[in-house]
Amino acid sequence: MPAPASLEEVRDGLAGAGYLASEAAALVSFLAYKLGKPVLVEGPTGVGKTELAKALSRFRDRRLVRLQCYEGLDEAKALYEWNYRKQLLRIQTEAAGTAWTDVQEDIFSVDFLMERPLLKAISAKEPVVLLIDEIDKTDQEFEAMLLEVLSDFQISIPELGVVEATTRPLVLLTSNNTRELTEALKRRCLYLWLDYPDAERELQIVGLHVPELSDTLSRKLIEVIHMIRSLDLKKPPSIAESIDWARALVVLGAADIDKSVFDRTMSIIVKHRSDLDVVAERVGVRLGDGLLGRAESG
Ligand SMILES: Nc1ncnc2c1ncn2[C@@H]1O[C@H](COP(=O)(O)OP(=O)(O)O)[C@@H](O)[C@H]1O
Ligand SMILES: [Mg+2]
Repeated sequence: MPAPASLEEVRDGLAGAGYLASEAAALVSFLAYKLGKPVLVEGPTGVGKTELAKALSRFRDRRLVRLQCYEGLDEAKALYEWNYRKQLLRIQTEAAGTAWTDVQEDIFSVDFLMERPLLKAISAKEPVVLLIDEIDKTDQEFEAMLLEVLSDFQISIPELGVVEATTRPLVLLTSNNTRELTEALKRRCLYLWLDYPDAERELQIVGLHVPELSDTLSRKLIEVIHMIRSLDLKKPPSIAESIDWARALVVLGAADIDKSVFDRTMSIIVKHRSDLDVVAERVGVRLGDGLLGRAESG
C-alpha cells in the first residue's frame, strides 16, 4: 500500500480506526509515513501515546509489533535469543560420532532462533508498525543499541549473518518522560508532545468510547476533569480516567454529577491519598454549591 497522500487522509484514517488525533499528532504521523523516520511520542500517562501506535496499525492494516520496555530489558528480550533448551535436545538426540561442526551448523539455524520484537519487525515481509513502548524505562546502553537498529534497519547475528529489513516499519517510541532521553535518539526521530486534550476533543473522545453517556453529563464530566487538572496534583486524571469515569457513571445509572455521586466515584479519577483530600475539598464544595455544570443544565 502506498504512503497516505495527504494529512487529511491520515487524520480521517485514524478517526476511522477510533483515534481522534490532534492536529500535531496527525501531522507527525503523516510525516513519519512520508519521511520514513521514527516518531518519539512524549507526554504524561494516559494521553493516547500507545493508542496512537495501535490506531496507526489498524489504519491501513499493518501488523503491530510491540516491544514493552522495562528496567533491565536486554538484547536477548529485544532482538533475539537462541533456544538453548531446543539446542540441547537436538544435541542429545544426535547419534554418537556425529561431527561437532555438523551439529553446530544445525543448532545455529533459524529453527533454533527465537525472534524478539525488533528482529520480528526487521524481518517482516509486510511492513509493520513497530511500537517501542515506554523507552524511558530502559537505560542509555539500551538506547544506544536501539539507535543502531533504527539507523541501519539491520541486525547482525554472529552465527547466522546480517538480517536486513526488506520493508520499512513505521516506528513509534513512547516515553512518559521519567528521564531525559539522549540527544542522539531525539535527533534520529520526529518529535510529538502529547498533552491533555482541550475540552472539545476530550468530549469527542469520551463520546467515542462511551456513547451511552448523555451529552449533558459528558460536558459536566469534562468540565470537572479539567477543573481537577488545573489543581496542583501528584497525578492529574488522564483521558483514561475520563473514560473510566464515564463508564462508571453509565453503570451506576447516574442522572447528574452532584456532590454525592462525585464523592462516591472520585476514586476512579484521583488515585493518590493526598490528591483525594485536595480534590474532595476544592471540587466537592463547588459541586455542593452548584457552581459546576450550570451553563449546561440551565
Ligand atoms: N485521541 C484519542 N482518541 C481516542 N481514544 C483515545 C485518544 N487518546 C487516548 N485515548 C484513549 O485513552 C486511553 C489511554 O490511552 P493510552 O494510549 O493507553 O495512553 P498512554 O499510552 O499515553 O499512557 C485509551 O483507552 C485510549 O483508547
Ligand atoms: Mg502507554
